[in-house]
Amino acid sequence: MILSNKELETIVDTTDEWITRRTGIQERRIASKHREETSTDLATQAALNALDMAGMEPNQMDMIVVGTVTPDRQFPSTACMLQKTLNANRIAAFDVSAGCSGFLYALSIVNDAIRAGSCKTALVLGVERLSTIVDWQDRGTCVLLGDGAGAVVVTAASDGRGILSTHLRADGNLWDLLYAQYGHEYLPEVLKDVDIKPFHLRMEGNRLFKRAIGCLSSIATEALEHNSLTSEDIALVVPHQANLRIIQAMAGNLNFPMEKVFTNVHKYGNTSSASIPIALDEANRQGLLKKDDRALLVAFGAGLTWGSSIVTWSI
Ligand code: UT7
Repeated sequence: MILSNKELETIVDTTDEWITRRTGIQERRIASKHREETSTDLATQAALNALDMAGMEPNQMDMIVVGTVTPDRQFPSTACMLQKTLNANRIAAFDVSAGCSGFLYALSIVNDAIRAGSCKTALVLGVERLSTIVDWQDRGTCVLLGDGAGAVVVTAASDGRGILSTHLRADGNLWDLLYAQYGHEYLPEVLKDVDIKPFHLRMEGNRLFKRAIGCLSSIATEALEHNSLTSEDIALVVPHQANLRIIQAMAGNLNFPMEKVFTNVHKYGNTSSASIPIALDEANRQGLLKKDDRALLVAFGAGLTWGSSIVTWSI
């Protein structure tokens, strides 16, 4: 279902005006436990869409890596559950837990595996059902988050296109700025279809906000400098979609006009690991990425973790 800011006004003490002004979010998607919308279901749909666009079959994959903090089960991994639904057996499959940077961590692992020769083609996903771990009584977090999934097919290339580099960082000293903890199971009537888990999310938003801008800016700069590029060499920035104000501040620090920065946070809210692959897919379908364009991907999240990558678009 689509949950609007107006509907959130009936759940917690908030306003459409506050959410829009402070975050840029207008609505978010919420998965249902009744309509085949588990993390595995969302991952399956995203994987099939990516395979279809790549013109490839599941049995051509050598590896499946899923970035997620909301797997359906503690174990086995979402990647193994997905492997079953895709019937892509006897290949490596595992999840990566790196907060909202999960997709970039997964992409980096696959890039290294392909470069090392241990894998030729891989499915990389970001999948989240954050609605299952949201505290629907905490207005500081429940207005921010949404559910979703995105996927890419990564394959070895010899033409110099593709992933130019990846850059990852973490600072576990600050783990307690954003984490899941055991708690109550309150669920508002309007969301009775959510498959809620016995723990919920806690966040120190304001301290995270400041960290996010600094970390995103520095790791994006690192990627540019590593490849001897400037902001003018980048066709599109595809950042993690947590908050429009964070994205605008980062773009300002890096001298990117907002026309070069893709945003869809107004439609989906913060979907953690899923936000970059969803944004990449939308940007691609809207024709914003053309062959040989360079895209800068950049993320920040729980852990704390942050990361970046520069990709030369090859389709
Ligand atoms: O995905 C990666 C990790 N996540 C992030 O990076 C998120 C980073 N943080 C943020 O995006 C922002 O800090 C928030 C959107 C979470 C909050 O925005 P803010 O401008 O930092 O607001 P704040 O936390 O400083 O709160 C300002 C006021 C407070 O009231 P008082 O103390 O000034 O009276 C809050 O209680 O806004 C209040 N408030 C709300 N009011 C209406 C907090 N949440 C809400 C709400 N509706 N939903």
